[in-house]
Amino acid sequence: MKRNKIVAANWKMNTLHSEAVSLAGDILAKTLKVREVKKIIFPPFPFINDVAILLQETEGFGTGAQNCSQYEKGAYTGEVSAAMLKSVGAGFVLVGHSERRLLFNESPDILLAKLQTALQSDLTVVYCFGEQLNERKSGIQHQVVKQQLSEVLGSLSKTQMNQLVLAYEPVWAIGTGETANPQQAQDMHAFVRQCLEDLFGKEISDQTSILYGGSCNAQNARELFACRDVDGGLIGGASLKADEFAAIVNSF
Ligand code: PGA
Repeated sequence: MKRNKIVAANWKMNTLHSEAVSLAGDILAKTLKVREVKKIIFPPFPFINDVAILLQETEGFGTGAQNCSQYEKGAYTGEVSAAMLKSVGAGFVLVGHSERRLLFNESPDILLAKLQTALQSDLTVVYCFGEQLNERKSGIQHQVVKQQLSEVLGSLSKTQMNQLVLAYEPVWAIGTGETANPQQAQDMHAFVRQCLEDLFGKEISDQTSILYGGSCNAQNARELFACRDVDGGLIGGASLKADEFAAIVNSF
């Protein structure tokens, strides 16, 4: 089975309502013709519904949330559940982004609970992971990534794995302008695929899309996406400009 090519826009805590709607419209117009690549936009919570309405009629586009609660419903003031996200048009959710792990102390247990509730609500999960700079410097990046995969994904079934996309995002490359070079990216993506094979078998390993994220832009996307085991990108800063994001989508 052929893996999906995906380029995803993680807008983080950027844009106001009118900016979000116009940016999504521009991205739609500029990437409409690139049918072989799935485009997923992750706006801030309040704009998900309007972005989803804008994109829903068009094949090859999806809308997602940057986070969801680990709880299903109830007295959790300020939280947003996976089912709520689904009900406003989200089809995807990010789980495990390093900003959530590091700034909001999301532990593997919390990430697993989020992942389970998202899957129950029929969202596709983009599970993010990646080593920090000191971990790469001490040469333990493979160990770290293997642990991040097995401790959260290890208990999932093969059926659940079909609802997952992975995103390798080395923390030292996120928002820093420093990108993993194609060799570093390919090396880690091949390693991740091997971990998937060990955990779930060859079929799941072959068909799971693994995205690269971390200062991916219109200049470096082409050589990153040319790597055998890189199936696309999760784009932060460069996804806030429609032209640049479209150029990245066109890099395939
Ligand atoms: P960046 O962010 O492209 O701005 O480095 C990527 C991400 O955090 O998903």
